[in-house]
Amino acid sequence: MPMKKLLFLGDVVGAPARKALARELPVLRAEGGFDWVVINGENSAGGAGITREIALALTQAGADAVTLGDHVWDQRGFDVEIGRTPGLCRPANLPECCPGARYLIVNSEDGTRLLVFTVLGRQFMRQHVACPFATADRLLRELSGEYDYALVEVHAEATSEKIAMGWFLDGRASVVVGTHTHVATADVRILTEGTAYQTDAGMCGAHSGVIGRERGAVLAAFFDGMPRRFPVADGDVRLNGLIVGLGENGRAVEAQRFEKQCAIG
Ligand SMILES: [Fe+2]
Ligand SMILES: [Fe+2]
Repeated sequence: MPMKKLLFLGDVVGAPARKALARELPVLRAEGGFDWVVINGENSAGGAGITREIALALTQAGADAVTLGDHVWDQRGFDVEIGRTPGLCRPANLPECCPGARYLIVNSEDGTRLLVFTVLGRQFMRQHVACPFATADRLLRELSGEYDYALVEVHAEATSEKIAMGWFLDGRASVVVGTHTHVATADVRILTEGTAYQTDAGMCGAHSGVIGRERGAVLAAFFDGMPRRFPVADGDVRLNGLIVGLGENGRAVEAQRFEKQCAIG
């Protein structure tokens, strides 16, 4: 029997996803009996980055923690705003001098502590970041005794890097979940030492386009390679994520994919 339950939702892409979350999340949270809801908000502002106002709206709708990714600094001024925005953490393996919290510890109603942090992958990614494996290892060790469960998000392009992280943290993190590619993978499972794992949680956003953007613009770019804007798509909005039941000793006991189709408009 799970003792605790958490919902993780993948990258929120633009206004259609924000609108859907504002409407759906309070209901989901109440009906699902989740102790924690964690959401990746790296694409929530027009498809790239986040603002303080949007982060607060996600929190208001029911997110306990908002995580970020490679698009963390895309919105102008967010490097300053991040310092006064609670409930949000930037990727942990960015350079030490970057602003923002590297991790969050979120208490459930009964005081059970969930550690949340994100590491960026290094394969096929733009940023120069510290080793995601060493960073995760160090944080889990440094914070040992300060949390009951740990959710480690691996925001990466390569499936191999994410799977490697799952095995690396098996038995140490309660959940290892991938984000960034915006497509949910069909490999949800509990690894041998009790870590719930999914290579990519998918995204919250319009599935009528290409990973959240209008398909016409993306398709045209594949033909001519010319720079252009990629407006956020708005059809077939779905929330994608992972539900995990947590048991004793920080271990996961149940894990399943989550998907909800949302009415448009
Ligand atoms: Fe990303
Ligand atoms: Fe993303």
